[in-house]
Amino acid sequence: MSDKPSYLGLLNAVSLAESEAYEYLTAWAAVTRHEGVQATLRTVAAREGEHGMAFAKRINELGYDLRPGPDDPKRAERLALACSTEVSDYDKMHALGVARIAEDTGKSGPDIFDTFFSDHSIDVQTGELLGRYIAEERDTGRRLRACYLAVKAEHEASRASKPKKSSKKKRNKDMRRLEHKVDALCDAVEALQRSATNGKNGRAGAKAGLSR
Ligand SMILES: [Fe+2]
Repeated sequence: MSDKPSYLGLLNAVSLAESEAYEYLTAWAAVTRHEGVQATLRTVAAREGEHGMAFAKRINELGYDLRPGPDDPKRAERLALACSTEVSDYDKMHALGVARIAEDTGKSGPDIFDTFFSDHSIDVQTGELLGRYIAEERDTGRRLRACYLAVKAEHEASRASKPKKSSKKKRNKDMRRLEHKVDALCDAVEALQRSATNGKNGRAGAKAGLSR
């Protein structure tokens, strides 16, 4: 039987995922203008970065090296999205999985971490690291959920206060109708002025003829 710990793959996967999350959450925290989002992202990013390093360290202590994962073309996309100043925090939350974490955290019952200790060969030191990691991840889930719900409420309130497209359309139509009426009125006033001027000139001419 090999001495290689059966849970190396788990430690490796956690380290890679946490390090990548650190990367894009830090980039996002640097560009958001929302103080609450920024505070949450900084807390979570610090944890993710530390988890990435702590699991790589544990793999090293066990006598192995962290193995890089396969190239993921989506990684650059996620980072570009996190860095964007055009995409809203609300949309980033949906695209980068925060909304899903928020939803999962709101559910009762087992989560993805419940199976981590199903491997009974996990050594004490690794078990200690995994236990702290799981407790922090669940707390992170609660923080992200609270942050997501606050941003969602703000997003919905701002949508409700914006005029609907249909009423905007109707207002534009009314405005155009009003402009046509004003144009017609201006034409009528001009025509009236012209006829008044012509009448005056006619009477003046007639008077001049009489006095000759
Ligand atoms: Fe994480």
